[in-house]
Amino acid sequence: MIQTIKEHLVEVEKFASTSKEEIETFRIKYLGKKGLLNTFFAEFKNVPIDQKKEFGQVINELKSAATEKVNALKEALESQTEVGKYGDLTRPGEPMEIGARHPISIVKNRIIDIFSRIGFNVSEGPEIEDDWHNFTALNLPEYHPARDMQDTFFIQTNPDILLRTHTSSVQVRYMESHQPPIRTISPGRVYRNEAISARSHCFFHQVEGLYVDKNVSFADLKQTLQYFTSEMFGKSKIRLRPSYFPFTEPSAEVDVYWGLETETDYRMTKGTGWLEIMGCGMIDPNVLRNCGIDPEVYSGFAFGMGIDRIALLLHQISDIRLLSENDVRFLEQFKSAL
Ligand code: PHE
Repeated sequence: MIQTIKEHLVEVEKFASTSKEEIETFRIKYLGKKGLLNTFFAEFKNVPIDQKKEFGQVINELKSAATEKVNALKEALESQTEVGKYGDLTRPGEPMEIGARHPISIVKNRIIDIFSRIGFNVSEGPEIEDDWHNFTALNLPEYHPARDMQDTFFIQTNPDILLRTHTSSVQVRYMESHQPPIRTISPGRVYRNEAISARSHCFFHQVEGLYVDKNVSFADLKQTLQYFTSEMFGKSKIRLRPSYFPFTEPSAEVDVYWGLETETDYRMTKGTGWLEIMGCGMIDPNVLRNCGIDPEVYSGFAFGMGIDRIALLLHQISDIRLLSENDVRFLEQFKSAL
């Protein structure tokens, strides 16, 4: 008897099949109610006492071998079906995150779009600049007190090299390499050594504009600014306050009338209704001359504005630092923006 069981054990071990029916037949043969195992168990009481122990061991062995075999074959069979191979194809897929443009890019692209419609192209230049392009050519010679208007990061080992404090440096480069008519805007990152707070940061972004041609007048400047503010903010009432920049004469600060309709308007404009948005002026003849353009023939205007500030205004962002932290929870709020 024990010998017969051992032979079955070998047979069970050898058995292999990929057919569902065959596996089921095999299961019934060994593990079914009237299967061999139950027959052997029933035989147990007739086994002579000195063989009981060994007999018990072999049928238990046969039982677990048969059970394991059936399970293993069934599992193998399942993994060959679609579900096993590819997972459940009817399950909903993993959600795919759609990126959002950074608010700085959104605002920058809008500004570029608005000016490109009236013939301005885009020019770029290096963030690490030399003294000439950032200061001297712009009518800011060494020791000029107006250099202090923009607290500058210099490279310690070479004071001629600095991080540009405005993108006016790009305008110098552009004028050096192009003759009028020139209509260009220069967006880019600029650096100033300022204490970081909710309202100021040591780097931010600007767009500066430049128009040089024959007979360019202050009226042209004013008209261009008015076109810009109405396209950008839907507000075309502006005022120009006299100001000072070394590279423009006359110079002005541009305020746009924001209105005082809502509480936010009130807060944003500190109760005045007016918001300062940029600096501008007629290019100083010295600057044109420094860049190889004859001020007797040509005149021009320039303006410059901070992109970060406009992004804060338009999107009601309360802290400028959010713009450089790249917190996804902040950035994903701009998915629906342009
Ligand atoms: N460069 C100036 C600044 O950074 C802005 C400006 C540009 C003013 C052009 C006048 C004309 O503050």
